[in-house]
Amino acid sequence: MTKFPKTFLWGGAIAANQAEGAYLTAGKGLSTSDVQPNGIFGGVVKRTNNDQYIKDIAIDFYHRYPEDIALFAEMGFTCLRTSIAWSRIFPRGDEQEANEEGLAFYDKLFAEMAKYHIQPVVTLSHYEMPYHLVTEYGGWGSRQVITFFERYARTVFQRYKDKVKLWLTFNEINMSLHAPMTGVGLAETSSKTAVYQAIHHQLVASARVTKACHEIIPDAKIGNMLLGGLVYPLTCKPNDIWEAMTENRTWLFFGDVQCRGAYPGYMLRYFKDNQIHLNITEEDKQDLKQTIDFISLSYYMTGCITADKEEYNKKRGNILSMIPNPHLESSQWGWQIDPQGLRTILNLLWDRYQKPLFIVENGLGAIDQVTPEGDIIDDYRIQYINDHLVQVHEAIQDGVDVMGYTSWGPIDIVSASNAQMSKRYGFIYVDRDDQGNGTLERKRKKSFYWYQKIIKSKGELLIR
Ligand code: BG6
Repeated sequence: MTKFPKTFLWGGAIAANQAEGAYLTAGKGLSTSDVQPNGIFGGVVKRTNNDQYIKDIAIDFYHRYPEDIALFAEMGFTCLRTSIAWSRIFPRGDEQEANEEGLAFYDKLFAEMAKYHIQPVVTLSHYEMPYHLVTEYGGWGSRQVITFFERYARTVFQRYKDKVKLWLTFNEINMSLHAPMTGVGLAETSSKTAVYQAIHHQLVASARVTKACHEIIPDAKIGNMLLGGLVYPLTCKPNDIWEAMTENRTWLFFGDVQCRGAYPGYMLRYFKDNQIHLNITEEDKQDLKQTIDFISLSYYMTGCITADKEEYNKKRGNILSMIPNPHLESSQWGWQIDPQGLRTILNLLWDRYQKPLFIVENGLGAIDQVTPEGDIIDDYRIQYINDHLVQVHEAIQDGVDVMGYTSWGPIDIVSASNAQMSKRYGFIYVDRDDQGNGTLERKRKKSFYWYQKIIKSKGELLIR
């Protein structure tokens, strides 16, 4: 039996910059995502008025959200994770007054969800910030940005306090180490010290807005968001075990600060050994003591690591520079599929923090074919999500407190790493290709009906 608890939240997750489009509509300012039209590893471009990029329209969720939310409701979603584009609310980021048109858009969006009793789970910053803060202040490298972010967060808490009770601070806060422009608004060539200083500012900001959220919306809960980058040792050599532990700590560090309220000793040693000198004030240390209410995470893959540098350099592969696990299959994008790893990571995080966990991203990016009859038979996606949900259920049986599951991109959206439409995660197909051709028409895939049944049965129909 794989029946999930009654309170378990079921849904999907999208992000403003990958779904909304309308990138300059209603007073919105340019964001870091808008100047990275080729994805988070595609570099920054200088935009001119005639440029047109895939994310500028994305899937036009900005205009089509009523249709999309109706489809999510048809699948039985009880929650939907999305983000607010900071640059819709504060187009430059440093204004005193918010942009009313931007605020009004999310009023309508949350009201639409409420019609179907879909609970919003809202990320304050998902892979974007106003670009003006980068050019004028140096992104999160500047302490002033903490104040701007707090102003933005307080504004949206105040505005949506009756509509939104679940909040997340920074999407995949640990990703800044791999993609500094996306994470903290810094150039890719930035030094480790600069990136960690910017991360420090972001951690302080996260703590401050957590406090603000509790003050403004006492019945809300606010969580962090970690990229669950679980790494295994390639062999059982003690050196490899240590290497894997060290690698896992590069992302667990963020959780340690956000859940325990202080920098862990291993990180202070790392800074010292690497001559990374950060400006951490007494006030910062006090602020950091404010911990989050729950942990949210994305989970897509695992990988391996070894202390043997030659072996590592020979075998390392995908974006997180991990060595492929010879015991696992990979997706078409080389992401290794490891459902059991999800049970492991949930147990690991629960053992470490004893805070509720929320899986806010998981799914399979794949190329879908539309049959001549117009159907999309995505059995591979059904299999992937089935197998991961079975492991979530196992973790719940292990005693882990899991709040819910939102699959990534329940409707096809633009991928973050390469800005492709062809890397599809959805239960709903969107007619648009990598060049931007297509009608944007929505179509239910086979997985749409499958997920609907899974939600209706509260997981009971999952296959072990
Ligand atoms: C996560 C991000 O890293 O992975 C999402 O939070 C992203 O924004 C998702 O879309 C999947 O990655 P990609 O590159 O396949 O879109």
